[in-house]
Amino acid sequence: MSEVVMEEHEGRQCAPEPQQQITAEIEDLHRQDERAGLHRTQSRLDFAPYRSSVLRHPTKAPAHADPEGVELFSPVFGTRDVDPLEADLTIQRGGEPIGERIRISGRILDGDGHPVRGQLVEIWQANAAGRYIHKRDQHPAPIDPHFTGAGRTITGEDGGYAFLTIKPGPYPWGNHRNAWRPAHVHFSLFGREFTQRMITQMYFPGDPLFALDPIYQSVTDPQARDRLVATYHHDLSEHEYLLGYHWDIVLTGAHATRMELEGDHA
Ligand SMILES: [Fe+2]
Repeated sequence: MSEVVMEEHEGRQCAPEPQQQITAEIEDLHRQDERAGLHRTQSRLDFAPYRSSVLRHPTKAPAHADPEGVELFSPVFGTRDVDPLEADLTIQRGGEPIGERIRISGRILDGDGHPVRGQLVEIWQANAAGRYIHKRDQHPAPIDPHFTGAGRTITGEDGGYAFLTIKPGPYPWGNHRNAWRPAHVHFSLFGREFTQRMITQMYFPGDPLFALDPIYQSVTDPQARDRLVATYHHDLSEHEYLLGYHWDIVLTGAHATRMELEGDHA
């Protein structure tokens, strides 16, 4: 979590470009991919409107790690290490957090639609005011003493997961002048081995900041972008208690969810 917040705020003092310039660059790169007939389900590595991506995206082929060798010194976890209550972000600090109470649920699926069972799913997010608890996050919005913004769970037999949380607020970041991230929840998935980690972000439907956000727009295929957005599901909402959102994550294949590379977290 710390790396995410630091990188998002580092450039604040040296980013004079207005939103119009960033938007024009986004549209230009989208047109390039459209003309080339490219349907990218993943982010472009050197997506210049997302300024820091140009400097830090990988330029060399990935190094192969022996998965079994890595397991000799990497952290391990088992299903018993994760308490079911860790999926409830509204009960962590001895009081109710402020904000719109929501449940996010869905399934982790492979490219053939089969459930991925026993998967560690971790989330982190800003609070309702758009603030993370981290010393590098100096956005002048209140910290909620009753909200850490972090939770985790293990997928069930059907690949299902569910979190009870608070809808995060949008927040400013240093990419350009008046840059705001759409409300989002960061997701990390672990398979059964440490080398199988994947990271992505989930968004909320109808966010007016989508068109302006160079991270969301770094996926140039519109359908692949849509797959990063949860669906409001009234059947998942609970009477006088919470609103329900549904979001499936597909790990491989033509409908795969966009995943971030190492160091690409903002
Ligand atoms: Fe974030």
